[in-house]
Amino acid sequence: MSKADLHLVNAADEIERQFRSVMRRLAGGVSVITAGRGDDITGMTVTSLTSLSAAPPRLLVSINRQASSFSLIDRHRLFGVNILGSDQQELAARFSNGKLKGKQRFEGISWFSGTAGVPLLDNSLATIECQVEEIIERHSHGIVVGSLLGFDLSHRLSGLVYWNGQYVDIDDDSDLNELANCSVPFAHAR
Ligand SMILES: Cc1cc2nc3c(=O)[nH]c(=O)nc-3n(C[C@H](O)[C@H](O)[C@H](O)COP(=O)(O)O)c2cc1C
Repeated sequence: MSKADLHLVNAADEIERQFRSVMRRLAGGVSVITAGRGDDITGMTVTSLTSLSAAPPRLLVSINRQASSFSLIDRHRLFGVNILGSDQQELAARFSNGKLKGKQRFEGISWFSGTAGVPLLDNSLATIECQVEEIIERHSHGIVVGSLLGFDLSHRLSGLVYWNGQYVDIDDDSDLNELANCSVPFAHAR
């Protein structure tokens, strides 16, 4: 490698480092994306989940194509979204722990299989089952567009955010018992 090439590589590394610093300023809601069925299940912590459109209801999440969840989502064309609450920081750590793989990430925690068959985490602020509408592969990641099959909304509000390299609670749970648990069946969510 010539000196000029080396300079370019170093410049690219520096820009990447600065980009990471810039993005650390952006607070992101923490969710766990779940995928697979039977014993072949996994999940991963993400902050890239966002709403794409309300009519029709579509969301998107950017997933590294090397992550174990990506191949399961691609194969089954289904995934689960679990929006974490402020008391679920441990789940966020568990589902981004490279030492735990696949089903191990679900051991000792409370989860169930949704109507479409994807694993969903109990006590999330909201869970959503999604069908993959499209996967746009760009660079290291796949932008996964999901259409809603059904969702479940908890009474609780206090959320979990990742900002500046740390988890931050948004503690805003008031008495929302008057809000009934709302569950939209498969056919209505389309
Ligand atoms: C707070 C936080 C947010 C993350 N957000 C994303 C994300 O949006 N997309 C992504 O591909 N990885 C994200 N990751 C990394 C994945 O959680 C991690 O690489 C994944 O668990 C690896 O899965 P695997 O070991 O099953 O391959 C995030 C990690 C943390 C701690």
